[in-house]
Amino acid sequence: MHIDTARFASDCPRHSARRARAFAVACTLVIAAAGARAAPAPIPVNDKTFACITQLTPVRGFYVGNLLGKLGDTLKVARSASGGVYPPGSVVQLVPTEVMVKQPAGFNPATRDWEFFELDVSKDGSKIRKRGFVEVVNRFGGNCFACHVKARPEWDFVCETGHGCDPIPLTDQMIGALQRTDPRCPGAERVSAADAQALKDLAALQAKKPAPPAAAR
Ligand code: HEC
Repeated sequence: MHIDTARFASDCPRHSARRARAFAVACTLVIAAAGARAAPAPIPVNDKTFACITQLTPVRGFYVGNLLGKLGDTLKVARSASGGVYPPGSVVQLVPTEVMVKQPAGFNPATRDWEFFELDVSKDGSKIRKRGFVEVVNRFGGNCFACHVKARPEWDFVCETGHGCDPIPLTDQMIGALQRTDPRCPGAERVSAADAQALKDLAALQAKKPAPPAAAR
């Protein structure tokens, strides 16, 4: 049976003023149910949620964690050769400043419940610069969702390489250098010559890019 709870709930004040008390009670229940279905409680995320990337758990080239203490469930999907649906609380990172966090099922069907974050990081910690769902654009003018939605469904928005996303122009050496020089990690100031060169190459690559449109900044 299908009941349009949202529509029924919006009629409630009108009916309940005139009709039996039982109807009012039913309305209260339906409003509660409609509310619960429309928006499961979010997993709270703030600046303090994030820390040194390399203290998360490495999986191939990226890192994972779980904010609800269910790291094993997250690892099971991340390590699976056939993909799967990441459980709520999953945290996924490739570079220090960009994070995906899995909110509870039904939270945002368009992004399959992933919330996207762009951070500013320093030795003092993390500051959330942007967060949200389909609308989040990173500092280079790229929309997280637009790229990640291209991952084939079994990979649940995780791109890696070969999952169907357009590639990003970062080499493995550049990605590794960004991870190893995350300023939130102890010892990050000791930079190897190879990493220093990779970061220089990355800066040159970014300087070549046209400036993003003003609206995306
Ligand atoms: C231009 C397309 C593009 C944009 C824009 C983009 N990503 Fe990605 N992202 C990728 C690709 C491709 C990879 C995999 C790269 C690799 O493994 O070499 C990736 C990797 C990641 C990963 C590691 C897991 C994975 O999917 O492999 C996370 C987490 C992530 N991106 C988050 C974000 C967030 C958050 C934003 C926005 C603030 C963002 N990305 C913007 C394409 C993009």
